[in-house]
Amino acid sequence: MKRKQFLHRVGLGTGALALSPWLTSCLTFSDDELQGSFRNRLPFPGQITDPSFNLSASSAEIEIPESLSLAAFQFNNSVPGPTIRHVKGQELNIQFTNNIGQESIIHWHGLIVPPEMDGHPKDAISGGAYDYEFSLNQRAGTYWYHPHPHRITGEQVYRGLAGFFIIEDDEEKALNLPSGNYEIPLVIQDRRVSDSGQIIYNPSMPERMMTGFLGDTILVNGAPSPYHEVEPGVYRLRVLNGSNARIYNVAFQDDLSFMVIGTDGGLLPEAIETNELLMAPGERADILVDFSGLKKNSIHLISKPFDVPSGGGMMGMQNMMGSSGPEQGTGFDLMEFRIDGESKQESVDLPGQLSESTFPEASSADRTRPIRLDMQMMNGHTINGRQFEMERVDERVEQGSTEIWEFINNSNVPHPMHVHAVQFKVLDRSGNRGLTPTETGWKDTVLVMPGETVRVIMSFNAPKGLYVFHCHNLEHEDNGMMANLEII
Ligand code: C2O
Ligand code: CU
Ligand code: CU
Repeated sequence: MKRKQFLHRVGLGTGALALSPWLTSCLTFSDDELQGSFRNRLPFPGQITDPSFNLSASSAEIEIPESLSLAAFQFNNSVPGPTIRHVKGQELNIQFTNNIGQESIIHWHGLIVPPEMDGHPKDAISGGAYDYEFSLNQRAGTYWYHPHPHRITGEQVYRGLAGFFIIEDDEEKALNLPSGNYEIPLVIQDRRVSDSGQIIYNPSMPERMMTGFLGDTILVNGAPSPYHEVEPGVYRLRVLNGSNARIYNVAFQDDLSFMVIGTDGGLLPEAIETNELLMAPGERADILVDFSGLKKNSIHLISKPFDVPSGGGMMGMQNMMGSSGPEQGTGFDLMEFRIDGESKQESVDLPGQLSESTFPEASSADRTRPIRLDMQMMNGHTINGRQFEMERVDERVEQGSTEIWEFINNSNVPHPMHVHAVQFKVLDRSGNRGLTPTETGWKDTVLVMPGETVRVIMSFNAPKGLYVFHCHNLEHEDNGMMANLEII
């Protein structure tokens, strides 16, 4: 098994073999291009570990390295927002205050909380405060939070309102995964920069209806062209695709392999070694990478080029739509890791089983629900032929029931589908893409490429009431690709 190879390299101070594969990278960068192309130290958002706290959204004109400026929305004066970090079982009291001059409400993406705590767009407030009170009754994992008002979620996330929400538990602690400086949260977001250095958000009609808003500049933790200094040891990267529309095929230069250990809903049953990982907006990946034994002192995190199937009809629509950013599927650099010094880390030893999960069996499903994702010429994308209406309940599911949802993408653009109030397991995907390493674990967001049908299974155990599910391409969501889900 390949995991063994990785473990060899992980063993520390034991004269571990350097088995880094030096295969040819799909992307080629000349050495000149590499020199100095990453100039900005990777920033880290502050942490909130207090169970009772305020999240205050405000607006400000902020400066970003490389002489960029952003008319920002910030949580607690920070872009990205502070990382909320708590243990399973914790009860939280969060006061959200809205001073951005637009209506807003916060959603805790991936958390299973009562409906009135979930940030349904109908609960948006145009000012004042909204009090959240809920407890963390779920697995350790890399979750996140962001606003959820109807039609303006894309703009608010883009301008800075998003942060990590990390839950820890005993099962995960027992693994002794790299922590402290060896645990690095990375939120990847693409932004579009005007000639004068302004980060702008002005999706055109076709962008709202078709591709979503694709940027031309990558920010990691809010900074362009970032680098981070690491020791030659094993690091845990918690990667969040916090972009509005862009999908990344996350990889390292030279095809360096890494271990995927977790995803949206926490640890995978077993670690999976890979050298690329497709991540759509909203998805998270927890990975371990070994920086020891490399033959150079710098390695780039990149997004490898990937294919977007055309899905029939309207070929090349993406190109015609005049998006100024590189189109979906283009490869580019994300950031640089600079490797220096000696590792003071204790050895990292992964057991064969990372975590215990009982996924529902397909045969246990009470019903199968087709969820058709279509394109309508005048409206843009629809779910089962309709666009979002605040008051209309689209799907009613019984509390305690287990259902298979079949996401059928009849359009020619990718849709990362996200369901609130559950974590699901991906059963299968039509076509030849198969399941990705993260899809062996608990998910709340799944990428459905054009022409694909993806089946997921989930049990609805959240409190009764109204939630939503939607496409996490935020322009699609804002343009109505969302539906009400009621647990009855
Ligand atoms: Cu991250 Cu309903 O969204
Ligand atoms: Cu969500
Ligand atoms: Cu979509």
